[in-house]
Amino acid sequence: MNEVLLKVENLKTYFFMKRTIVKAVDGVSFELRRGEVLGLVGESGCGKSATALSIMRLIPHPGRIVDGHIYFKGRDLLALSEKEMRGIRGKEIGMIFQDPHNSLDPVYTVGWQLSEAIMLHAPKKMDKKSILRKVVDILGKVGIPTPEDRHRDYPHQFSGGQKQRIMIGMSISNVPDLIIADEPTTALDVTVQAQIIDLMKQLKEEYNVSIILITHNLGLVAEMCDKVAIMYAGKIVEIGGVEEVFYEPLHPYTKLLLKSIPRVDIDMPRLEHIPGSVEGAYEIEEGCRFYPRCPMAMDKCRDTLVRAYSKGDHIVYCHLYEGGEG
Ligand SMILES: Nc1ncnc2c1ncn2[C@@H]1O[C@H](COP(=O)(O)OP(=O)(O)OP(=O)(O)O)[C@@H](O)[C@H]1O
Ligand SMILES: [Mg+2]
Repeated sequence: MNEVLLKVENLKTYFFMKRTIVKAVDGVSFELRRGEVLGLVGESGCGKSATALSIMRLIPHPGRIVDGHIYFKGRDLLALSEKEMRGIRGKEIGMIFQDPHNSLDPVYTVGWQLSEAIMLHAPKKMDKKSILRKVVDILGKVGIPTPEDRHRDYPHQFSGGQKQRIMIGMSISNVPDLIIADEPTTALDVTVQAQIIDLMKQLKEEYNVSIILITHNLGLVAEMCDKVAIMYAGKIVEIGGVEEVFYEPLHPYTKLLLKSIPRVDIDMPRLEHIPGSVEGAYEIEEGCRFYPRCPMAMDKCRDTLVRAYSKGDHIVYCHLYEGGEG
């Protein structure tokens, strides 16, 4: 089996608001091997982006990582200086953001911006010709037609979907070890979505890139991912191989999620028919955060810390499985 590339251990990321503390990520653990694709799913507001931004060490104020470890190629990212972290972002870990806040600059050509990204992390000085060749190659890879001409164009000369693909090109320009893709296709039309997915598959196959894919689309998870983690209110409630989790779900939340989707190729709805919400669940300290909405809830779910129970690589955090292998 391939080496473990990323190991997240008991990660806690809290937002310190005026009146409350939002425990957006509260004890998340998982590992990812080289070449593996992990899907991260769960209702809106359950902490998926906060988990991704924690790995990049890009949590904005008033948020802070308060506990845990993030081992990437054996090094704890939480122990690195900001300067060391800058060397890793964009080079070893590429991120495709849900809201591309580092979007393209309107005053420079896309070719120029791509070449800057390439040079920033190039292992050695590159001559102009090879940089241009790489720029054209990347634009071609993300499906921009006639890249040998279009690299001279400015961002406003591209469509929204094309701009998003150029952004993706930037994040993969150096073939990172890990790509974190936070809903990379949500704003795009179906054809472009398919191109992005193909591009990610190609990176995985050609370069053994590992991917964390955050999405509401369970069909995409089934198509792309080896493993899937189901999050609820800042915690992973179930994680395992896609087949195991989709065909033999263990956690009541996962079961409800899967049952609420008529077809896996459409986006996941909010579980509005179950009373309560993710937001309120963050206040639960000791017990299971899904307890107020869980049809299988028992007394102890309210105030007893939930342990992990595992069946091979399939892990569930739920009192129902007490007595099974732990
Ligand atoms: N900058 C911030 N300041 C304060 N609270 C935040 C901030 N970012 C996230 N949160 C809170 O942290 C929790 C998790 O948010 P996060 O963005 O990680 O959710 P998500 O799972 O990515 O949701 P979505 O599917 O809607 O993108 C939410 O309660 C959210 O309100
Ligand atoms: Mg998000």
